[in-house]
Amino acid sequence: MPHILTSKHNNIKTPSKSKDGVLFNYIAKSTYGDKISVTCDGKDFFLTKLIKDDKHLIKIDSTTRVTPVETVKKALNSYGEICDGDLIFSNTSNDNNRLRPTKKYLKDIGYFVDEFQTTKEICVEVGFGSGRHLLYQAQQNPDIIYIGLEIHTPSIEQMLKQVKILDIKNVFAVNYDARLFLEFLASNSVSRIFVHFPVPWDKKPHRRVMSDEFIVECMRVLKVNGSLELRTDSPNYFEYNEELLTHFPTYRSAIVKNQDLAVSSKYEDRWKKQGKDIWDITIYSKDISPAIVIDKDFSFHLNCKIDIGKLQNNLEKKPIVKKGFFVHLEHIYITDDNICLLHLTMGSFNKPVSKYLVLKDDIVNYFQSNPIPTSPNQNAHKLIQELLNEAMG
Ligand SMILES: C[S@@+](CC[C@H](N)C(=O)[O-])C[C@H]1O[C@@H](n2cnc3c(N)ncnc32)[C@H](O)[C@@H]1O
Repeated sequence: MPHILTSKHNNIKTPSKSKDGVLFNYIAKSTYGDKISVTCDGKDFFLTKLIKDDKHLIKIDSTTRVTPVETVKKALNSYGEICDGDLIFSNTSNDNNRLRPTKKYLKDIGYFVDEFQTTKEICVEVGFGSGRHLLYQAQQNPDIIYIGLEIHTPSIEQMLKQVKILDIKNVFAVNYDARLFLEFLASNSVSRIFVHFPVPWDKKPHRRVMSDEFIVECMRVLKVNGSLELRTDSPNYFEYNEELLTHFPTYRSAIVKNQDLAVSSKYEDRWKKQGKDIWDITIYSKDISPAIVIDKDFSFHLNCKIDIGKLQNNLEKKPIVKKGFFVHLEHIYITDDNICLLHLTMGSFNKPVSKYLVLKDDIVNYFQSNPIPTSPNQNAHKLIQELLNEAMG
């Protein structure tokens, strides 16, 4: 991680601008260290300033990290020039000529929140791993769009390399938890959802992909007669899914044992060699589902004026856990002219979001951008608003 180490120094003057055009907007202080608000190359982020062994360490604040890393290095170098401390160490030499690979088929979740639209047929694969099945399907069906969801970054990179080698043009990879992703697909829009050899999580069943909620969400996004196709070698996971099926007695489903598919995954090859059984459970969607509207409103409506003293004294700092979401208001940072930063973690237990709230002139905003509008984030946002009103009311 790029950082600089300097001798102890006074706070830089804010607002100020370096000769490279980096803006240092304000410094918010706390006993945990300072947050320095920076605007560099059109991007807003914080630098953290900490005391380390009688020196000052300045680095990017991980919650507000931006890309490319050269932007952060530029800001750190400018800080080193402006401050009145001596530079002791830095790993911020900038190589602006480095070519970055374009990742045309790797899509950010924001793309699916705001842009994704197609008239083509869509299939989704959850946890594609090495991507053998996903790539096979995409090659066989070039007119279908395949969305591959995976949380393991090396698997995504490996799969994208194959996409390039095989010149496949109908796959999108998304680095996102499948349990939260489906919210961003329109109702009745998907033909098939593959869940092949999901991790059975025998000791941590709450981490399983398959659940009542996931099945209901799959049925919503599937077209009538569309299918959710689970394939597993785990007897425990198979029994768990049989049990889930009993919660939906009206759904049409099929169970097949030791069926050969046209392509077998790396895992499957291994299990077959060991003579293990493999089960397929397919659940079919039977009804047209109503459209859902995503609530993207993350604005704050306070009942009172911002009172930093009350906020510091009254705000609940322990995590507050509710059904399906949580809020943890962690630290408060304050500037000399009463801008308040509230560092918090919120949303789903499966994919918590770390954010700063900026409270300034009776206006509250999320720093950089609003959270992704998942239901857990929306619920957490409403709770944060209640907590702010309670603390300052
Ligand atoms: C056992 S591997 C199977 C991979 C592949 N489907 C196959 O058959 O070879 C399970 C994969 O699911 C991914 N995974 C686990 N939980 C996930 C989630 N919630 N969302 C998306 N991917 C997930 C893991 O990273 C892993 O690559």
